[in-house]
Amino acid sequence: GITRHYKFDIKLQNVTRLCHTKSMVTVNGQFPGPRIVAREGDRLLIKVANHVQSNISIHWHGIRQLQTGWADGPAYVTQCPIQTNQSYVYNFTIVGQRGTLFWHAHISWLRASVYGPIIILPKRGVPYPFAKPDKEVPIVFGEWWNVDPEAVIRQALQTGGGPNVSDAYTINGLPGPLYNCSNRDTFRLKVKPGKTYLLRLVNAALNDELFFSIANHTLTVVEADAVYVKPFETNTVLIAPGQTTNVLLKTKAHFPNATFFMTARPYVTGLGTFDNSTVAAILEYETLNSAALSIRKLPLFKPVLPPLNDTSFATNFTNNLRSLASAQFPANVPQKVDRRLFFTVGLGTNPCQNNQTCQGPNGTMFSASVNNISFALPTTALLQSHFFGQSSGVYSPDFPISPLIPFNYTGNPPNNTMVSNGTKLLVLPFNTSVELVMQDTSILGAESHPLHLHGFNFFVVGQGFGNFDQNKDPANFNLVDPVERNTMGIPSGGWVAIRFLADNPGVWFMHCHLEIHTSWGLRMAWLVLDGKLPNQKLLPPPADLPKC
Ligand code: C2O
Repeated sequence: GITRHYKFDIKLQNVTRLCHTKSMVTVNGQFPGPRIVAREGDRLLIKVANHVQSNISIHWHGIRQLQTGWADGPAYVTQCPIQTNQSYVYNFTIVGQRGTLFWHAHISWLRASVYGPIIILPKRGVPYPFAKPDKEVPIVFGEWWNVDPEAVIRQALQTGGGPNVSDAYTINGLPGPLYNCSNRDTFRLKVKPGKTYLLRLVNAALNDELFFSIANHTLTVVEADAVYVKPFETNTVLIAPGQTTNVLLKTKAHFPNATFFMTARPYVTGLGTFDNSTVAAILEYETLNSAALSIRKLPLFKPVLPPLNDTSFATNFTNNLRSLASAQFPANVPQKVDRRLFFTVGLGTNPCQNNQTCQGPNGTMFSASVNNISFALPTTALLQSHFFGQSSGVYSPDFPISPLIPFNYTGNPPNNTMVSNGTKLLVLPFNTSVELVMQDTSILGAESHPLHLHGFNFFVVGQGFGNFDQNKDPANFNLVDPVERNTMGIPSGGWVAIRFLADNPGVWFMHCHLEIHTSWGLRMAWLVLDGKLPNQKLLPPPADLPKC
């Protein structure tokens, strides 16, 4: 591989959407941010210079960061944030990965405006395991707030209530014509008949799992989270925050005398508050003799998206995702397990801690937890504390390995309100083979929890609804061709079983990629110890690692 250099200048930029102009934190003044393009095996040196008043850190979501945990990015986990007028060079090599990932700010809610795609091409001369597309196009979903999202989360945490929802979803930063005052801000994908396009879908939205569809066109899913999958056709893609999906779009053989909406809107299983608005982009066919004017007059077709609560669509879609499990791309599913773990994940409440009345359920504060621990970020970075042997007062290595009070997790009403705050790590010796069942507790939430694991891919060996049954469910685990990914939705009122090999030393964050759930504490961290061989150890920290 080669070394590629990028410069990210964090600076304010005025951006207008929906007739509202606001100053927001961006990379190089761009919204969404610049794309990173590299090949498998390349080394990346990305200098992030902070020219704004807020602290910042950037996460390279889905990059394994083998031995380079210092470059992973979550603030107060692997690094102290980069302060005003400071800079930090993220230095890492892409090992054994190719496909679509993304980068985003990993501090407070700054990723609302600080994100962009990462495109990893195969090594030179290595083809895709599918026919070469004629063109590749990133399709990045996001959200737009007319106000400052930092104020939204600040207020939610102070009052204990839920945050205001965004004003629009976006495709490549643009809300599209179904919103007021947004006609101009529409992403147009111009295509030619009879060609194949590789769409690189990224869900960078803060708080919503999305359905995506293109009217009158079928999509072929070929990759999820930068791992190839067995190709399958679908009209609609389901994609959670933190997930990426590559699909092939075959255009019609002849000029269709029509244009087509590409739309996305949320999948929400229950009756919680949600925003049912729809972002639209336009798929436009070009021919030699069609002037732009006549295209505008063509009929415009809209896709039919599944209903907001279509659980069976969601279940089928996720079941269709399978690893290639071929000779060239084997699925290295751990066949033996060293450590069986069970985590409850979900929303709950904490007693009101302010003098004023809290705006959570029954005057409480919303909280969220893993095994009843609502994870509190320290004021220094966990990885540094570990590496320099200064964990005292920062974290404790006693993450509870079974829920404190087992109960009927999916019962109604549930009774899991015994949440406490803490900074507890789960320690694993190098190369531990882990099987982890994550059980949603269905307490208050209506949505799936897209759980994201830093530093690893995992195999999704099983999933189901209701309470996980250790005596019955493991018999149905798929240990042959389960999908391998870094973010997986734990269904509302259900569970997911994953396996991974802890072959990457460092401190690795795991959290719900719905930003509000992370803020409420649905997060935890693993400490994977060094192995014996030199290539099994965390490298020393770079000299410019930010200080707190
Ligand atoms: Cu994309 Cu810790 O997140």
